[in-house]
Amino acid sequence: MIEVTAGGDLVSESADVLVVPVFEGRTWGPGAEWVAEELGEYLTEYLDDGDFKGKAGSSLVVPTPDRLGFKRVLLIGLGTDPDLERIRRGAGTAGKKTTRDKTVATTLHQIMDGAGGATTEGFMLGQYRFDRYRSDKKPLKTEELRFVGDGADTAITESERARVVVEAVSLTRDLINEPAGAKPPSELVAQAQRIADEGGLEITVYEPDQFDRERFGGLAGVAAGSHAPAAMVVLRYEPKDPKGFIALVGKGIVFDSGGLSLKPPAGMEAMKTDMSGAAAVLATMQAVAALAPPVRVLAVTPFTENMPGGGAQRPGDVLTPRNGTTVEVLNTDAEGRLILADALSLAAEEKPDLMVDAATLTGGCLVALGEKIAGLWGNDDEAIEKVKAAAAIAGEDVWHMPLHDEYEKNIESEIADIKNSGPRYASSINAALFLKHFVGDIPWVHLDIAGPARWPDSEHYHTKGGSGFGVRTLLTLIEQAGA
Ligand code: BES
Ligand code: MN
Ligand code: ZN
Repeated sequence: MIEVTAGGDLVSESADVLVVPVFEGRTWGPGAEWVAEELGEYLTEYLDDGDFKGKAGSSLVVPTPDRLGFKRVLLIGLGTDPDLERIRRGAGTAGKKTTRDKTVATTLHQIMDGAGGATTEGFMLGQYRFDRYRSDKKPLKTEELRFVGDGADTAITESERARVVVEAVSLTRDLINEPAGAKPPSELVAQAQRIADEGGLEITVYEPDQFDRERFGGLAGVAAGSHAPAAMVVLRYEPKDPKGFIALVGKGIVFDSGGLSLKPPAGMEAMKTDMSGAAAVLATMQAVAALAPPVRVLAVTPFTENMPGGGAQRPGDVLTPRNGTTVEVLNTDAEGRLILADALSLAAEEKPDLMVDAATLTGGCLVALGEKIAGLWGNDDEAIEKVKAAAAIAGEDVWHMPLHDEYEKNIESEIADIKNSGPRYASSINAALFLKHFVGDIPWVHLDIAGPARWPDSEHYHTKGGSGFGVRTLLTLIEQAGA
């Protein structure tokens, strides 16, 4: 992994590239004013040939051979009033533009409090790639990210948390991007075991022969069509004198074929990513173990494949998830809510102060909010505000959606307590209403990450594919609870 270091002042520094911020209207940020002074007319002429004005999202490489101590200066446009997310994105762009450079110096950390952390996060995540199956791998050349000038020591301190975040988000991305054939439930159990061993967490893994006794009727029903043994994984982080108790639940469908209600081929293409919620929860636990906040955290992640094998559940079958609510399965492709029913029931029994689930639950959420915003539902205003606040700090976009009681009739069954799929309209709300049957009276927030779990393109600190969405929000939420 890249080393993060503190350098001296700009005048005496040298590196392959110097990354400096520029604000709207070509207003020089820290370090950029020095570059402008040193380069004088060379820079003005170079800039006049193009249209770099410092807009957020823009960037420009200025070759500086034989001048300054750098081969190139990379100007990062940050617009007006940049916030941490803007800096994170700018640093992501810088990361992408310097993958062939050994040493990268920057002054981005000088913009505001927290900018050193945001820069580290954005820069390293920007360089993420999933290339283990490529023959033409181009290894990253960057070895060092060096903060130069004022505040470098503070930036280094901030970068320690950022590094943990980067490791957790990258792990999530790796797990999501991995082909389904290479990540049966047992592989994700092994990951959870590794996280528990390395971080000193308690772990319990429930295997298929225990599902009956544990009353995991939802998980057993979905798993029935697959040859790969399913598992319910429970991780516990138990600090001394905790200030609160948060439970995380994640949907871990390692592949969603739809089951007997088979998806069409196009709908199945991306379904190796249907374990994104669980991957985010596991990776968050890895980060929690490393950062040791004073908050109890319980993580529950059910893992199974949703397949149409000979033993598969049939449309019309009735399941009984752990809390005893009976469910008529009309569409075997609405499987996420079935495994979450067991996981939420289990977590709720432990009476956490707050319970949050993350799930790639409905295609309808993509229709409603697109690929970059998660839908957020909850049964408690304070809980909703806490998660929204954490998401805002973390730089992940969520939008509060209604848990509209009147739509409860959409999931009324003729023969059981509820059914697992309703009419086409408001399918994301129907799904959230379904989950509500399994949370009891625990303050609960549901994140439907069907859109942002996979990023649609490579931009700033994202790479097309698994995004790691949710990790930063969940981790921030836990840290805030302990603050
Ligand atoms: N995993 C899918 C949801 C999904 C779709 C996530 C597209 C990401 C992209 C989920 O299991 C599913 O199939 N949901 C159905 C529910 C319906 C049958 C009630 C859906 O949304 O169509
Ligand atoms: Mn499905
Ligand atoms: Zn699914």
